[in-house]
Amino acid sequence: MSILADSLSRVKPSPTMAMTGKAAELKAAGRDIIGLSAGEPDFDTPENIRKAGQEAIETGKTRYTAVDGIPELKQAICEKLKRDNGLSYTPQQISVGTGGKQTLYNALMATINPGDEVVIPAPYWVSYPDMVLLAGGTPVIAEATLENDFKLTPEQLEAAITPKTKWFIFNSPSNPTGAGYNHDELKALTDVLLRHPHVWVMSDDMYEHLAYGDFKFCTPAEVEPALYDRTLTCNGVSKAYAMTGWRLGYAAGPVELIGGMRKIQSQSTSNPCSISQYAAIEALNGPQDYLAKHNEMFVRRRDLVVSMLNEIDGVVCPTPEGAFYVYPSIAGLIGKTTPNGTVIENDEAFATALLEEKDVAIVFGAAFGLSPNFRVSYATSDEALKEACTRIQDFCAALT
Ligand SMILES: Cc1ncc(COP(=O)(O)O)c(C=O)c1O
Repeated sequence: MSILADSLSRVKPSPTMAMTGKAAELKAAGRDIIGLSAGEPDFDTPENIRKAGQEAIETGKTRYTAVDGIPELKQAICEKLKRDNGLSYTPQQISVGTGGKQTLYNALMATINPGDEVVIPAPYWVSYPDMVLLAGGTPVIAEATLENDFKLTPEQLEAAITPKTKWFIFNSPSNPTGAGYNHDELKALTDVLLRHPHVWVMSDDMYEHLAYGDFKFCTPAEVEPALYDRTLTCNGVSKAYAMTGWRLGYAAGPVELIGGMRKIQSQSTSNPCSISQYAAIEALNGPQDYLAKHNEMFVRRRDLVVSMLNEIDGVVCPTPEGAFYVYPSIAGLIGKTTPNGTVIENDEAFATALLEEKDVAIVFGAAFGLSPNFRVSYATSDEALKEACTRIQDFCAALT
């Protein structure tokens, strides 16, 4: 009999981390791999934030803290939510955890009873369904389409809701598509939620600051204040401030829910890293000017990748509003064969063959719940992106 718990058989390891690991392995073995699979910015944490972390170490801020965050950080988060999102929260309504991932996990663990359903639009961030499964709930996947720019329609949301629905998970701009809902698109979804008072909203705003061109970020509790009492607004410093390794995320919501999340965290990891908490205060309170500079760079890279991928026969790549991902369809390539004799039966076969034959690591769409597609993370240098897209073009041109 296995030592492992039955609950573990319900979940799979993160496919994005698996792909990144495979690419790293091949690179270590001497292959000229270009990795487009990791979901993190390629630049360093800004200097003022690094300094705040160093100062925390030097001034002895290295002990246990309050379980779900120090008061100064909670205050900075309240001010951020007011400033950027027009949302009023008190520090008792804030939960700080070890990355955005932990706060989402805590919220699901604190609220899901067996049989509870969670509506998740696909394509989705890989961890949502598995976290719901681990918590004992049932993910209900509502598939957005390429034709609707990977955004869920109000009709689709309405159809997915049942009396058992506990949460609707909303993520804009999205990982893996980069799709961002504008005010009217989001209002159409919140109007549906108003008709279903038993459904709570978990808004994952992790890519808030990575919003391009005319697109203006908005979040459900801001667009529909009547949802405030049943919304958990989740965010973090990982992506905007290039702090993925510091592991610091936060959420804002009703006191009862925040208390439940604290209870879970108090019996698992306790406080997030004290040093990271002080660095996060600087991230939120300090200068924000580099966000616009980074976005300029990301827009240039997005446009480069979208145009090079759209040059390929059989590939369709929409231009997303935010984040640092594109999610092209490869419907026109399914059934073709590579020079090595591999049949592209699905997007997983495409990703595997591309890595083996052209040394480019991407993540296949099935991992995100919508096929046949693949995800490119363009958070890497222009040169690497050009070379990778040229290799993808050559790979596709050689298919017969
Ligand atoms: C949509 C989304 N939410 C949450 C997270 C988790 O971020 P963190 O690194 O802060 O745990 C990620 C990271 O990839 C993400 O893409």
